[in-house]
Amino acid sequence: MMPFTSHFQAVSWSDTGPFVRLLDQRLLPGQTVYLECGQPDEVMEAIRTLTVRGAPAIGVAAAYGIALAMQLAVRTKDLHANSFNAIFDETCKRFAATRPTAVNLFWAIKRMQEANHAWHIRGVHERAAMLVEEAKRIHAEDIEMCLAIGRHGAPLMPDAGGVITHCNAGALATGGHGTALGVIRSAVALGKKIHVWSDETRPLLQGARLTAWECVQDGIPVTVITDNMAAHVLKLGHIKVAVTGADRIARNGDSANKIGTYGLAILCKYHNIPFYIAAPTSTVDIGCDTGAHIPIEERKPDEVTHLGGQRVAAEGVEVFNPAFDVVPHELIAGIITEHGVAHAPFEPDLVAMVARARVHHAQVEPA
Ligand code: MRU
Repeated sequence: MMPFTSHFQAVSWSDTGPFVRLLDQRLLPGQTVYLECGQPDEVMEAIRTLTVRGAPAIGVAAAYGIALAMQLAVRTKDLHANSFNAIFDETCKRFAATRPTAVNLFWAIKRMQEANHAWHIRGVHERAAMLVEEAKRIHAEDIEMCLAIGRHGAPLMPDAGGVITHCNAGALATGGHGTALGVIRSAVALGKKIHVWSDETRPLLQGARLTAWECVQDGIPVTVITDNMAAHVLKLGHIKVAVTGADRIARNGDSANKIGTYGLAILCKYHNIPFYIAAPTSTVDIGCDTGAHIPIEERKPDEVTHLGGQRVAAEGVEVFNPAFDVVPHELIAGIITEHGVAHAPFEPDLVAMVARARVHHAQVEPA
């Protein structure tokens, strides 16, 4: 049984249907609506539209979406192994095209591909069932990784005082518990008196809408600020530590996260406040040398020109809307993973942690 750490689940699987159940994050905090996606295309669209978002949650949703596609394939057609593989490959390709930056998406797809390959001699019905099990395993492992990140990160949090975060790296963004917010949750569970300062995170307000909502659900005190208030709040001395999630971490420690994270890290350096990244090893792209090689998603202009459906910028303006930026490793005090805290120079620690994760995976994977 999965250790649920929150009262809600961003992503889950239902055998009856079957369908992928998603908490519609576009509607939070106003409405709590669960969508039942009975088609893989619906899951793809949900990833594209940020109905489900956050690097690990995207990976889990894609794994379930691929499993769903193969469940449908074996139910509706008299499939031969070749057709099974053709549908599987095409589905993986289409999921890979949904969002470019979070490497957890590609990591989860690769896990599903490896599982499909490992079971290629089995019949198509058995393979489809095993792919559901693999997706469930990816989900369960993500929760375990978040809990371990929480254990490693909690000691880095102050016994009492302000912790600032950007975007949402909580239970909504993961299989459960969260990464950056998971560290905060674990520290609070140890009795630390943490006050969360949540950047609102324009343009899509993940901080104001989602992180603050999660804190309220858990009774963790939280103050929401607009992004341009962070410098002033740091100067006032309200913040002891900063912690955010990441979408992709290069081998040298450069870390991509929600647009505005780079600015926050610079502010922390100036004010001598430790800035931590919290992320599972599934977010580390060991084949990517530096942050310069991380693809940055650009999203539609209306996310910037409109706020809550209302136009806030004049018609005809040009818009630049990068969804992520890269924090150079020099600004990072430590990267908290499920295998401990990586420190500068980050490469040796990150390489060792990814290798450890691979060994762990090989040990738990059924023959
Ligand atoms: O565009 P989003 O909302 O998917 O961006 C999410 C973030 O930037 C998170 O901080 C990151 O994915 C880490 S989630 C544990």
